[in-house]
Amino acid sequence: MSIPSVGDSATRPWTTVELFCGIGGFRIASDALQIDTVWANEIEERAASVYVRQFGDRGFVRGDLRQHTGEIPQHDILTAGFPCQPFSSAGKKKGVYDPRGTLFAEILAVIQRCQPRFFVLENVKRLLSMDSGKHFATILRSSIAMGYLLEWRVLNATWFGLPQNRERVVIVGSRDNGSLRSYLRAENRGLKSLENVALKFDPSGIREIGDKAQKFKNWGLSWGGKFIDKDVRLPVCEPDRNLRLRHILEKNPSSKFFFTEDTLKRIENSEKVDRYFNGVEILYNQKGGARMGYSIFGVNGVAPTLTSTTSRHYERYRVGDDYRRLTNVEYARLQGFPDGHCDGISPYHQYSLFGNAVPPCLVEWVMNRLVRDRFTSVEFAGSTASTQLELSLDR
Ligand SMILES: C[S@@+](CC[C@H](N)C(=O)[O-])C[C@H]1O[C@@H](n2cnc3c(N)ncnc32)[C@H](O)[C@@H]1O
Repeated sequence: MSIPSVGDSATRPWTTVELFCGIGGFRIASDALQIDTVWANEIEERAASVYVRQFGDRGFVRGDLRQHTGEIPQHDILTAGFPCQPFSSAGKKKGVYDPRGTLFAEILAVIQRCQPRFFVLENVKRLLSMDSGKHFATILRSSIAMGYLLEWRVLNATWFGLPQNRERVVIVGSRDNGSLRSYLRAENRGLKSLENVALKFDPSGIREIGDKAQKFKNWGLSWGGKFIDKDVRLPVCEPDRNLRLRHILEKNPSSKFFFTEDTLKRIENSEKVDRYFNGVEILYNQKGGARMGYSIFGVNGVAPTLTSTTSRHYERYRVGDDYRRLTNVEYARLQGFPDGHCDGISPYHQYSLFGNAVPPCLVEWVMNRLVRDRFTSVEFAGSTASTQLELSLDR
């Protein structure tokens, strides 16, 4: 079946398709970069209604992606914050996983069929270590098999101006057209070959994507069945270390978010901690197993990772002399969405929608690097690759 075309003039705007679009974290980033979202899909009713309300229904398809992959038009960048499902090794050599039957396999099918110039996938950091790395090795292997070079990097929302410790792995796939460069590190462009990158980086560091257990480090490149990886320490941009949870709090939140008396009682069953962990101020922890106390956070650090897990939405924060949970508006702010993005949805459900979303500013940084490249590649042609690489590898 031929792929519906969106036009292929050299001057047309970049186009994107957003799979598992939720409330549109990638969409906000694409709009900011003037990348045209030509198709998007979401199965969950509330997320879909927020998406359509905010962005309209042009190109939006509600329902199970598995029923709709054949409708997806050609595009330049495929994006997906995909649900994390375990791969199975049934029917295969033990330890070699098979993505068939998972939603990741649907992503692969779309890539195979539409051959986007890039894909950008976002997921929890744990993807790198699940099943001792076998899960991620399967992702690398199957993407490379389709002719894509992969680069991944763990990015933290705090680097992009959000007071939330939220680490996510972003995977960029670029069609293997012989022009090799790193998109998720500093300015290393114009590289002659990936082997060259690897040799500069660490001569002994090139490894096969084998079946052996191997947790992957926070940055890496992968091509032709091989990869290099490294735990990079520096952020991609200088975080604002003065940005704190207290700076984004609502001034007068509704009384329904307060639990002061109840919390004071439960503090007796909690363990005093009073320290910072990954920038998060932790005042009390639940006493092991009792489930009577609470984790209680301060507001002088950054927020812990917001999730869609209901129990987390009731965690208490000490604000002045009061104890309360965060409001849905504070969730929006911590994720970098406009305050009213999910208006019309109950606060209870907004927590999950925001907790599941990708911070737009984080993926905007990534997509900007892909798009910008189209305009600057000429500048870099003929530059001395190795010098640039050496300058940038410690970032
Ligand atoms: C991790 S969330 C992605 C959130 C999104 N990036 C955002 O910014 O809101 C995964 C999304 O995939 C959706 N989803 C799960 N299974 C799906 C399916 N079979 N077809 C379409 N969407 C699905 C979920 O409802 C959820 O909204």
